[in-house]
Amino acid sequence: MLDLPQPIPALLVHNWTLGYPMTPRTVRLARLHVHRRLTMWNWPGDIEDAVLVTSELVANAVVHGRIPGHELRLRIAEADDHLLTIEVSDPVPTFPEVRPRSLGERGRGLIVVQQLADSLDWFLRAGVGKTVRAQLSGPKD
Ligand SMILES: Nc1ncnc2c1ncn2[C@@H]1O[C@H](COP(=O)(O)OP(=O)(O)O)[C@@H](O)[C@H]1O
Ligand SMILES: [Mg+2]
Repeated sequence: MLDLPQPIPALLVHNWTLGYPMTPRTVRLARLHVHRRLTMWNWPGDIEDAVLVTSELVANAVVHGRIPGHELRLRIAEADDHLLTIEVSDPVPTFPEVRPRSLGERGRGLIVVQQLADSLDWFLRAGVGKTVRAQLSGPKD
């Protein structure tokens, strides 16, 4: 865990954020929104991977980060080198260490995120709870 939000080191060319209710249908909505935004931005990375990462992080916020009366926040931002940042914030101020598990179905979402993303980290928010951040690079040439 990092103590402070790490600045995104490059110039942003796109930046978009929206709050959602902590309900299961939010997961599908967030998928649709991210797919649409990245298509509009003509983001050159793997949009399906980015949608899947978003989906897992938003699903986790809804299931593990839900506190009644709070919403979750989704942010996606593209830097000028095409690095994509996906941030999902929820009001629960804890996050597990991610490591492979051998038992059952639980714990697979974050492993998938780790495999698809270039980085996965989290930090406490100034107000309440935390932000989970995944970053995906554009196309590797
Ligand atoms: N946003 C979150 N807030 C708090 N804990 C979380 C969050 N996301 C994940 N976790 C914890 O990490 C575990 C692993 O997450 P994940 O790999 O997505 O598996 P699953 O969601 O199927 O349990 C969860 O079971 C939960 O304990
Ligand atoms: Mg999960």
